[in-house]
Amino acid sequence: MADIPVDPQTSSISGGNDPARNQGSLRVPLYETSTFVFESAEAGRRYFEVVYGGASTEPGEEIGYSYSRLDAPNLRVAEERIAAWEECEDALVFNSGTAAMATVFMRVLRPGDTVLHSTPVYGGTASLLRGVMGEFGVTAIPFGPEDTIDDLEAKLDGRSPKLVFVETPANPTNDVFDLEVVVGIARRHGAVSVCDNTFLSPVWQRPARHGIDLVAHSATKYLGGHSDITAGAVAGPRELIEPIRKLRYQIGTTAQPWTAWMLTRSLETLQVRVERQTGNATRLAEFLSAHPKVTRVSHLSLLRPGDRGYEAYRKQAAGPGAMVTFDVAGGEEEVFRFLDSLRVIRHAVSLGGTETIVSLPWYASHANIPAEERLALGIAQSTVRMSVGLEAADDLIADLSQALERA
Ligand SMILES: Cc1ncc(COP(=O)(O)O)c(C=O)c1O
Repeated sequence: MADIPVDPQTSSISGGNDPARNQGSLRVPLYETSTFVFESAEAGRRYFEVVYGGASTEPGEEIGYSYSRLDAPNLRVAEERIAAWEECEDALVFNSGTAAMATVFMRVLRPGDTVLHSTPVYGGTASLLRGVMGEFGVTAIPFGPEDTIDDLEAKLDGRSPKLVFVETPANPTNDVFDLEVVVGIARRHGAVSVCDNTFLSPVWQRPARHGIDLVAHSATKYLGGHSDITAGAVAGPRELIEPIRKLRYQIGTTAQPWTAWMLTRSLETLQVRVERQTGNATRLAEFLSAHPKVTRVSHLSLLRPGDRGYEAYRKQAAGPGAMVTFDVAGGEEEVFRFLDSLRVIRHAVSLGGTETIVSLPWYASHANIPAEERLALGIAQSTVRMSVGLEAADDLIADLSQALERA
């Protein structure tokens, strides 16, 4: 990274590509290959001595590549760019956000361990932590946005967590969790802290600055940005990343070269996309707040001094992001009519793409969480999660307006 300019927007354009090694190509070429030819028998022996045997490389030594499940040139470029964005030493890319989370959980947690996690989290992450890891004997303890370090100690009831996981702002409620509390409790117990930074992206929030150990992403969302790949990423210090890299090739959660190439390309436009999407979202949130058929709107631009989450938001984020969650007055019937009346905005899961989409967390992303828990978290049948895209804001407002009329 030494020769790369400091600002991640700059390093995202040219970082990791050496034209001299790539036939002079200005763009990063795609190495769509599963295997690599060794220069010599000695080079093959040395490669596995380092990768499987754990031998250290000499200063300046490059061992190259052997097999794309282990590592590949396109992965390294995407990883350098993500590490730069997250202000971390290194990063890894995976074939989905879920693969990234699962690899981290499997690396850190063992039977009998405890994990503290914010709630709500994306339903898939909840099912990994409580379901899959639960089956391996891990106890998951949830915490809310207002919990202090003392509250967390009370919830732990004498246990010591190995991992503290936070998703902030939370999917789908936009609840803001204070990273200082997360880092505080993790450090007190020597636990690894992990922040899912999918919603704000590093454009608006860089959790490593606040002491978080590992920053995780569903790169399917803003990092990929065009709803055309599924990918994941984890960034952090080398000493934590290296054991995760090893587990990644052991369990095969590695991203494909093509996925990493797409991600590399998308990172070049991350900032312009997220800034424009955020501007659109702020206008839409304002419009929805004043609409008589909308009973509740959650977007970080609407937070005011004294509101829950305001202080943490000001401390740890530089912008409100492009996720708006709102409730349509009424219940299932009204919200279904609203969805079916939309003409520009589409009804689809996922988020972070160039297009504006809406989904119903109750019926989709959070359907696997017990109903009473969803209600307690503020997720109702009438709750709409909107990922705001790059369209003209006036068109989006017109579409919401006509669909709300019919709701
Ligand atoms: C906040 C968040 N984290 C993680 C994930 C899981 O990522 P993926 O779908 O890429 O596996 C999602 C997916 O919606 C998400 O919204």
